[in-house]
Amino acid sequence: MDKKFIADFKVNEKIDSVFILRKKNLKLTKYDKPYLEMTFADKTGKIEGRLWDSAEKFNESAVTGDFIHVRGTVDKFREEKQLKVDSIAKADERAFQYEDMVRVAEERDKCYDNILDCLGNIKDPWILKLSRLFTDDEKLMSSFKDGIGGKSWHNAYIGGLMEHTYEVMYISGQMCDLCREADKDITLLGAFIHDIGKVLELDAKKLEYTVEGGLLGHITIGYRILTEKIREIKDFPYDLRLRLEHIILSHHGEYEQQSPVLPKTLEATIIYHADELVSQANAIKEIQVREREEGKLWSSYVSIKRRKYFIKAPEIVSSKEEISAEAKEPPSDEYESLPEEKNEPNDLFEM
Ligand SMILES: [Fe+2]
Ligand SMILES: [Fe+2]
Repeated sequence: MDKKFIADFKVNEKIDSVFILRKKNLKLTKYDKPYLEMTFADKTGKIEGRLWDSAEKFNESAVTGDFIHVRGTVDKFREEKQLKVDSIAKADERAFQYEDMVRVAEERDKCYDNILDCLGNIKDPWILKLSRLFTDDEKLMSSFKDGIGGKSWHNAYIGGLMEHTYEVMYISGQMCDLCREADKDITLLGAFIHDIGKVLELDAKKLEYTVEGGLLGHITIGYRILTEKIREIKDFPYDLRLRLEHIILSHHGEYEQQSPVLPKTLEATIIYHADELVSQANAIKEIQVREREEGKLWSSYVSIKRRKYFIKAPEIVSSKEEISAEAKEPPSDEYESLPEEKNEPNDLFEM
């Protein structure tokens, strides 16, 4: 069976291909008839699907995270493509290529080399020793290299965690060069480990939270990993330990963003803002790439940001008239009355 990629779907096209089942809910219509609401994904994107006949039977045939064989037709609902599904079944492992299902970050090896180069600039012997305990931990680094930055919002692909980490290290390092009062050694290692808990929080293959991740979250898990590493170094200075722990615990910046403490050191403040900057930029870039298509100016409504994004490259907007013509579609505020997409609590805070 030839793989049909989501990005290439055309309205009214018949689909007979394998995807990852990202979400599945058995619901009732207003006439109490059961139907299945699903989200399918492959390396090119994701699409919503609805199955109307024999929903209870098909509900038993697959669970979230499974690779499934889907038959159906591409439909359109509220200006978005959607799959009208005839059947789903667990896919035979020989029926698909794993690489077609999950996206992998470009230049993964180079990215890790860049991280090692950054860490190579550390001069403080204690911090250097600690950084090597992390990089010498083959199991941890293997999970780190294969890790995802988030489930859906930013860097949600294999290698995305490493890519995101390098971007935070890069921006934080640049800030330290501008702001000499910041301790660059603490900042670089802090940036390297700020999201290390995601190796256990997220299942990179299924693009899903692990049970541990759902119960503890990556801040708590990362704090634990750091504590365990520091314990391996006899007489590790107490002040360095506190400042590194503070970076992990404060990097979400606000109590409302699941941060147990607010950033209260210069280094933690730099990392919080670098993290915010690169994660938001990556997420919006992904929306642009995924949704950019002929004649489309605005993305679909992004509920967690309460807006649509302008997705057409400025150089190919031919005139003011073209912008104002599309601006006649309802402004994004009018969509706020739509029900918010149901997110798991952690989905909102994938930083
Ligand atoms: Fe984070
Ligand atoms: Fe982060």
